[in-house]
Amino acid sequence: MYQLKNLHIVLTYKCNLSCKHCYLNCSPNRSEKIDYTLLASAIENLYETNPLRKISITGGEPLIYPDFLNLVRYCSNFDVELILATNATLMNKDIANGLKDLVDKVYISLDGCCSKTHDKFRNKRGAFNKTVRGLINLRNAGIQTNLTCTISKENINEVPKILEIAYDLAARGIEFRGISSIGRGINCSKINSQELENLLETVSNETSAKSDIYNMKTKKERFDSYPPCVAGFMKASIMPDGAMVPCSAFVNMTKIDNMDYIQKREPSEIWNKPKSKIWNMLRTFPKDIDAKGCRAEALSRGSIYLDLPEANL
Ligand SMILES: C[S@@+](CC[C@H](N)C(=O)[O-])C[C@H]1O[C@@H](n2cnc3c(N)ncnc32)[C@H](O)[C@@H]1O
Ligand code: SF4
Repeated sequence: MYQLKNLHIVLTYKCNLSCKHCYLNCSPNRSEKIDYTLLASAIENLYETNPLRKISITGGEPLIYPDFLNLVRYCSNFDVELILATNATLMNKDIANGLKDLVDKVYISLDGCCSKTHDKFRNKRGAFNKTVRGLINLRNAGIQTNLTCTISKENINEVPKILEIAYDLAARGIEFRGISSIGRGINCSKINSQELENLLETVSNETSAKSDIYNMKTKKERFDSYPPCVAGFMKASIMPDGAMVPCSAFVNMTKIDNMDYIQKREPSEIWNKPKSKIWNMLRTFPKDIDAKGCRAEALSRGSIYLDLPEANL
């Protein structure tokens, strides 16, 4: 029996930005969003039936979901770590103060050290300044902030300056990741896996002296594991259309697989016995297949069993 520990919720595909790399193809033109009542009962059902430890709320841009604050309040009643992932451009003082004592951590995306790079990547003039303002509002409200930085050929040289920003704004953590070839990420100028590995090592050395800034595991540490990732084993995602999938990166699975929707089956039943062939293939991943990297990226390149030694995630 598998135990769900980490629930990831993609509230909407609507976003106020339309970033170059977005694996979910989010944009201001999209409108899909999950029904609040349906979602609330799914969370309760999964909490009652599994040792849920973490709920991550994201999108699209979670702050434009109509019931965003209601949902945060609702989730804060459960004994879990509550995480929000946002571009923070809409994080004004009132919202930040409203989140205090409700969320445990906020992950904020920052993809450059200045407006020129970040705004180009995020496809919106003024995004950098608004994100930094949002981060300051959260910090001033006493909320733990962590930066997520997606690295491409366009911003790899800015990493030292991005670290400085993290220190200056007292972010508690920073995570660098490569771009996965899913959604609009397919067309981005990715760095190769050696460049990412070198970067992670340099950052680890640099940040080890600063106890409050952490970095994700090096790629080797992340890759030397079985199963290749925890999607579907201890993690699941609920998508804006109510689809329940092993991870949001399997966003395109709905087009090719038997799907389960929380409108049609109890979420705990879906977790215990998913109809999805891909989900079941993940759970029975052959130990003798050496397949590294993100399984959703492998699927989007043709097969769940593809080895992606060059992949960035
Ligand atoms: C989909 S966004 C949703 C939350 C919010 N809108 C934001 O941008 O932070 C969550 C995270 O996924 C990252 N992301 C989007 N597309 C990606 C890709 N192709 N590869 C790696 N990370 C990606 C974003 O940079 C962001 O840090
Ligand atoms: S990465 Fe985040 S901010 Fe950018 S388009 Fe996707 S959901 Fe929106």
